[in-house]
Amino acid sequence: MKNIFGIVGSFRKGSLNGMLMAAIKERAEAKGLQLEIADFKDVPLFNQDLLANYPTAVTVVKNKIKSADAVIIATPEYNRSVPGVLKNLIDWTSRPKDDNVWNGKLVATVGATNGITGTIAAQYVLKQSLLCMNVRVVGNPEFYLGMAQEKFDENGTLIDEITKKKIDELLSTLATSRIL
Ligand SMILES: Cc1cc2nc3c(=O)[nH]c(=O)nc-3n(C[C@H](O)[C@H](O)[C@H](O)COP(=O)(O)O)c2cc1C
Repeated sequence: MKNIFGIVGSFRKGSLNGMLMAAIKERAEAKGLQLEIADFKDVPLFNQDLLANYPTAVTVVKNKIKSADAVIIATPEYNRSVPGVLKNLIDWTSRPKDDNVWNGKLVATVGATNGITGTIAAQYVLKQSLLCMNVRVVGNPEFYLGMAQEKFDENGTLIDEITKKKIDELLSTLATSRIL
């Protein structure tokens, strides 16, 4: 397992989930893994009518999911669920049904909040969708980062040793998972 694709469900500057994914990327690369972070700001709102004229912005992301050995999704929690931009991307990339790039893909979910629950609710909602797309969801270790604003310095660098260890644990789980 060498090549990871990272998806962050927040577009905002200073996103805690963006900082978390950047830290995961840095630690992955230190272990000789590659991690590319998705850019999907140009993906339009899903409309089944557009499937006939499939948007290039989605094709680009689909191809990256297809060629990745594993995907890590960092989701914020919005109203105890996943942000619309992330669900929109998942819906797009799961269609057309005979080109479901998620089928059999190894996927780990992580998430950061500024409250204490660390995206537990959002990740459970996310995992429900992933399971029905036949994703191989990493059930353990679970990764919930609460009070995330305290875990990064003013430059967005991860300063929390426990979180660093959790990232390493997740990366080794991915790296040792067999790709069938
Ligand atoms: C619309 C909205 C709904 C939110 N709902 C929740 C929630 O249900 N649970 C939670 O822990 N935080 C919630 N938050 C706070 C987010 O965890 C916090 O804004 C976080 O920083 C968002 O992720 P980001 O920093 O990656 O953008 C919500 C924020 C917004 C904007």
